[in-house]
Amino acid sequence: MTRRILVTSALPYANGPIHLGHILEAVQTDIWVRFQQLKGEECVYVCADDTHGTAIMLRAENEGITPEALIARVQAEHERDYAGFNIGFAQFHSTHSPENERLSQDMYRRLRANGHISRRRITQLFDPEKQLFLADRFIKGTCPKCRTPDQYGDNCEACNATYSPSDLIDPRSTLSGATPIEKDSEHFFFTLPAFTDMLKTWTRSGTLQESVANKLSEWLDGGLQEWDISRDAPYFGFEIPDEPGKYFYVWLDAPVGYMASFEALCKRTGLDFDAYWKPGHDTELYHFIGKDIVNFHTLFWPAMLSSVGYRTPTGVFVHGFVTINGQKMSKSRGTFINASDYLAHLDPEYLRYYFAAKLSSAVDDLDLNLDDFVARVNADLVGKVVNIASRCAGFISKGFDGVLSAQCSEPALVAEFQAAKDEIAAHYESRDYSKALRQIMALADKANAYIADKAPWTLAKTDKQSSEVQAICSTGINLFRLLMSYLKPVLPTMAARAEAFLAIEPLHWHSVDTLLLGHRIGAFTPLLTRVEPDKVAAMMASAGAGAAGAAAAGTTAAGTSPVGAGLPANKDADNSAPAATTAAPLAQEPLAEEIAYPDFAKVDLRIARIVNAEHVEGAEKLLKLQLDLGLGADGAPVLRTVFSGIKSAYDPASLVGRLTVLVANLAPRKMKFGMSEGMVLAAGPGGKDIWLLQPDSGAQPGMRVV
Ligand code: 2FM
Ligand code: ZN
Repeated sequence: MTRRILVTSALPYANGPIHLGHILEAVQTDIWVRFQQLKGEECVYVCADDTHGTAIMLRAENEGITPEALIARVQAEHERDYAGFNIGFAQFHSTHSPENERLSQDMYRRLRANGHISRRRITQLFDPEKQLFLADRFIKGTCPKCRTPDQYGDNCEACNATYSPSDLIDPRSTLSGATPIEKDSEHFFFTLPAFTDMLKTWTRSGTLQESVANKLSEWLDGGLQEWDISRDAPYFGFEIPDEPGKYFYVWLDAPVGYMASFEALCKRTGLDFDAYWKPGHDTELYHFIGKDIVNFHTLFWPAMLSSVGYRTPTGVFVHGFVTINGQKMSKSRGTFINASDYLAHLDPEYLRYYFAAKLSSAVDDLDLNLDDFVARVNADLVGKVVNIASRCAGFISKGFDGVLSAQCSEPALVAEFQAAKDEIAAHYESRDYSKALRQIMALADKANAYIADKAPWTLAKTDKQSSEVQAICSTGINLFRLLMSYLKPVLPTMAARAEAFLAIEPLHWHSVDTLLLGHRIGAFTPLLTRVEPDKVAAMMASAGAGAAGAAAAGTTAAGTSPVGAGLPANKDADNSAPAATTAAPLAQEPLAEEIAYPDFAKVDLRIARIVNAEHVEGAEKLLKLQLDLGLGADGAPVLRTVFSGIKSAYDPASLVGRLTVLVANLAPRKMKFGMSEGMVLAAGPGGKDIWLLQPDSGAQPGMRVV
């Protein structure tokens, strides 16, 4: 029987761009959905922009436009970026939609009728200038425990203390700088504790990964609290029915946005809304989310659904965060990669493959290691998979007018490929994509070994039209086709190119049960080209440049944390960079001989971005740095290679994306390991204690240091 499945991924906030954290989640979801569809299931994938809240209201105000205009612009950008990665939404909607307003208000009315809404007055900090209640992240002050200044309202980055914003010494509104006052107002609460038993059962009913269920048990045993679902005007959102001036907190209507998006799809396509949201139907509902929003999806959301008589999710699938070269994506380090930075330089299929090759059903973080990315994609996709087709296609088209033999020559090998189907399917189904791809690549190795062993090129030397050559190459082409069927959920574009090359109807999962015999294939065209490391460096450079621009743009980003589906809050890590000022006082080196200003003026110091850093084989002290100096007078990028004696102090990966200062007019020096074109500036006595100078992130590569 055909399964009927509704799938969602988390709704990205409309206050920031789509970044690789969002893309990880969308790719994970999209692969699963495509796999189901290829098997013939009725599986639809919906998403939407998450548009409400104070941050969006303030950002629109800063830009001098309405929130509606802002969210419309951002939605177009989001849809473009997702489309760039081939994410196959059936519907991409908005939480600021009539469907969502009706569904959210209706949900609230039913919660209220069931006695699941309580109301009481609470006291909060209020900005008397902006006339706004202040969420914790809009308040900064001195930590009450360790007295470090400039800490956020809920926790101290220096001593990790947590507290409430009213405990801060000398609190300030980050919006106006005013001293907040305490003010009370009436709030509405969802009575979550009433659902404790329901949730204890639901979270243990096979809906969640075990590690997630275990974490939730701790919360459930510790006791749940009522959830504040209201915010006071001014707020960009939906008004609470019968309560003028009160708005739904963004997280109340965000998950309802899943339903709203699906409702919009139903209107377009005639799908039955109730069959997916009312209990008693054999439909399935899955939410893919990041680990930072588990409580919203596994406590509040199922409790609300069950109160009002909707069905609860069949599964909530939680993934970890993306890291870049082992570190959190960071704007200040220039490693915050937006989807558009990636797409400007690299083929989306590379990243779909790389993510899939590292994804499992666990909640672990996923590291995008850029060297590994290049090596893996090139080795697996180009070196193994494309190679099979490219080695065989020429012989078939030249010797046999493109026609494959009527039989495959290695039935056991072909059968082994076909027999792998169910195991690979089980890996996709359980989101163990890394296992699926490992198995597929092991098969690709066998196909290549087979071709190498038979060496059709040797046979073809004596007889281009030998039927053996045709049989070997036809077998190779068939093995390639089987591999492409298995890879299609991950690589839809490459699969489409393969289908065109093979001159066949679109592959589906059961295509592997048949073979392509006596069939005329088309001309071989490149199915995927190699990842060029230069392009990766260029992507990192543009990610860094974008970040610098965002920082330079000033306060518009205050509080508009682009916490995405897959990323932690953007507490910029600049402040935690090695700080020479905190080191023990050193005996300073004596100053060098005085020079005249004209001598100094000869030194051309430039801002440079480190786009690549690597160890140098055989060099004890040196790292090889690739530096980007922005665009030259001719409009072409200026790149420099510099060998720098900072190996003892830096892991090369940690340098990529960073800004530094380069002596740009130093004559190139030939060193043992190559030509060094300049010198970067660093300070310190040596060993671990060397600090590369790092300009503020607003500086741009190529700027002259003045
Ligand atoms: O964390 C986030 O990015 C939220 N915008 C996710 C919302 S998911 C859903 F519930 F709407
Ligand atoms: Zn502190």
